[in-house]
Amino acid sequence: MKIFAYGIRDDEQPALKDWIAANPEVTVEFTDKLLDPETAKLAEGFDAVNVYQQLDYTRETLTALHELGINKMSLRNVGTDNIDFDAAREFDFSISNVPVYSPNAIAEHSIIQMSRVLRRTKELDAKVAKHDLRWAPTIGREMRMQTVGVIGTGNIGRVAMQILKGFGAKVIAYDLFHNDQVEAEGLYVDTLDELYAQADVISLYVPGVPANHHMINAESIAKMKDGVVIVNASRGNLMDIDDVIAGLDSGKIADFAMDVYEDEVGLFNVDWSNKEFPDPKIADLIARENVLVTPHTAFYTTKAVLEMVTQSMDASLAFINGETPKIAVKY
Ligand code: COI
Repeated sequence: MKIFAYGIRDDEQPALKDWIAANPEVTVEFTDKLLDPETAKLAEGFDAVNVYQQLDYTRETLTALHELGINKMSLRNVGTDNIDFDAAREFDFSISNVPVYSPNAIAEHSIIQMSRVLRRTKELDAKVAKHDLRWAPTIGREMRMQTVGVIGTGNIGRVAMQILKGFGAKVIAYDLFHNDQVEAEGLYVDTLDELYAQADVISLYVPGVPANHHMINAESIAKMKDGVVIVNASRGNLMDIDDVIAGLDSGKIADFAMDVYEDEVGLFNVDWSNKEFPDPKIADLIARENVLVTPHTAFYTTKAVLEMVTQSMDASLAFINGETPKIAVKY
C-alpha cells in the first residue's frame, strides 16, 4: 500500500508524520512540489495520490497519472472546482475531498473580517501606527444594527450564521438547497434579488462551480443597497472583480473584504515584499482603506490542517483497500 503526497507544507508535516506512525503498513512518500503533468511521474509505483488544491488538475495531469496506473486521488481541501471531471470520469478516478475539516476556521475568519470592516480597524491601525490617537472621523458601525445576507447555508455558512446571531445581527439567507434548521428559523428569502435588496452586509459561502461564476457582477451589485459591505471568503471566481472595483469607485460598495481572488494561483502564498505585484489590481485593492485582503488564509488553522491531512490520508487508504470513504466525491 503506497501513497504519494504532493504539496506537503512544513505545517502539514507533523500531522502527516503522526498518520504515518499510526499506519506502519502503508508506505508514504511526500514532496513539497505540487501535482502537475511533470511532477506526476514522482508517483510512479504508488497506488494513490494525496494532493491539495492550488493548480488545476487538468486532463493532462490526470492523463499522466492514468498512464502510471493511478486512479485514486484524495484532496486535502474541500473545493473540487479545479478538477477536470470529464477526464476523471474517462479514467475512472476515485476522488475524495475533505468537506468538513473545520467550517469554523472559514466562518470565523469571514466574520472577523466583517467586524473589522464595520469598525474600520484598517484605518484605525494606520492612524495609531502614525501616533494619531484621535477618535474622529473613524466612527464604526455595530453588527447588531446590520441585516446580514448569507449566501450559502452549507456547513460554513451555518457556522457563520451562528456567530452572527451571537453578535445580534439580523440574518437572512439564500440557498438553492434549504437546510431544515435554517428553514425552521424562517431565515430564507426566496430569491437572491430579495437578499440583495435587504442586506446591509453580504457574505458568500457557496462553491466556485460554473453556475456561480461571477454571480457578483455589475447587474447584481446594482440590485444591492447603496453602501453595501461585501465579504468573500469562498472562491474568487464568484466575483467579477472589475465590477467590484467599479462598485468601490462609485461608492455603491462601501467596504469589501476578500480572502480569495480569481487569479490567486501564483500570487497568494508567495512573498512579494520588495517586489512589484505582477497584478496591478491586487496592488490597487490592497492600497484601499475600505478593502481588506487576506491571501486565502481563512482555512489556515492548526485544527483545519490536522483534519485535512488526517481525513484525506484515511480516504487514500480506504480507496486502496477497495472501500468507498464517506468523503468520496460523487461526480
Ligand atoms: C479549500 O479547502 O477548498 C480551500 O479553499 C483551502 C485551500 C487549501 C485550497
